[in-house]
Amino acid sequence: MPEDTNRVALAFSGGLDTTVCVPLLKEEYGYDEVIGVTVDVGQPAKEFDEAEETAEALDVKNFVVDAREDFADLCLRSVKANATYQGYPLGTALARPVIANAILDVAREQDCTALAHGCTGKGNDQLRFEAVWRNSEMEVIAPVRELGLTREWESEYAAERGLPVEGGSEGRYSIDTNLWSRSIEGSELENPATIPEDDIYDWTQNPSGKTAELVEIEFEHGEPVSLDGEAIEPVELIETLNERAGAHGVGRTDMMEDRMLGLKVRENYEHPAATVLLTAHEALEQLVLTQEERQFKKQIDQQWAQKGYQGLIDAPIVDALEGFIDSTGERVTGSVTVKLEGGHCRPVARESDYAVYSQSAASFDEEDVTGGITQEDATGVAKYHGFQSRLANRAMDNARKKNSE
Ligand code: ARG
Repeated sequence: MPEDTNRVALAFSGGLDTTVCVPLLKEEYGYDEVIGVTVDVGQPAKEFDEAEETAEALDVKNFVVDAREDFADLCLRSVKANATYQGYPLGTALARPVIANAILDVAREQDCTALAHGCTGKGNDQLRFEAVWRNSEMEVIAPVRELGLTREWESEYAAERGLPVEGGSEGRYSIDTNLWSRSIEGSELENPATIPEDDIYDWTQNPSGKTAELVEIEFEHGEPVSLDGEAIEPVELIETLNERAGAHGVGRTDMMEDRMLGLKVRENYEHPAATVLLTAHEALEQLVLTQEERQFKKQIDQQWAQKGYQGLIDAPIVDALEGFIDSTGERVTGSVTVKLEGGHCRPVARESDYAVYSQSAASFDEEDVTGGITQEDATGVAKYHGFQSRLANRAMDNARKKNSE
């Protein structure tokens, strides 16, 4: 390649949006060469085949980067923060900064001067990609948004140019899949009143007739480290739980979501592993954290999820939030058993050396002794309980009487 080649790195999936971006980056933006970068965050194998084939047909050099471990680590950080946004465990959102950083690395290695994505101007992903990229020396290009393209225009353009878009694996839906979640949008699902057909689901089965199953997860400092007593790495843990819990129909969400730009959208998600890990983690926190820690942590967790949704996990506040999360997380060590049954996942057993729970203190069977406290000692507390409300109510009664005299 000549040294002065004007080169742009494109976030490439092989789908319609990114495919039409290739000729447009050359013709409309004047780049000599487009390189593609496909980042592996756990998409199904067929998506890589599709990207590879399309890149070849377009005569684009495509780089594939395996970022599954980095992504899985981030997913587990989100578990420590019990992170969901309006009920959605953030799969797409958390993947974006990981993908954006991987593309930036390739672009630098390949002497690119610009970065491009195929996101529209309506969604969240443009903001998440650009938050990372605009922190670099590179030019940022968003052809679909800047040229105001529609899917219809893109299809016609692709047909005219003979671009390879036939093999699209997603059918009529817009699907985004990674280790943490699979999202399904578009077509008849855009009408919130339409009940989804069963065929929108791929990771979760209809659980009817399936026998319940127990799963035991062991945590160390808030991080899941073993499954049913066997040590396991994050990527494998997530993949295994997606299969096991998915078979029971665990982890389906059908929701209205508030996007960053203010739009409301109808979203369908599948996220079996996320549901299991979030459920188990929270059950362990219930056992080991004090009530005030848990109450305050809800606010911390919500802030973390907000930054996660925005694709801003590099924001300084996230470090500060994680200071609290890691400090309380030191005691989130122990194990939780959850039951997978009929589309649900619920904790059924938990144990930890750090349990605040004391059986002898709570039991109906024993007269306890922890700290030398007896039942009688509660008499004074019971007399005072509600004291201020009684004072207030009495004052109101007296005032009413006085005013009516
Ligand atoms: N609304 C979600 C988010 O912003 C997921 C979007 C997924 N995209 C898709 N083409 N299905 O995180």
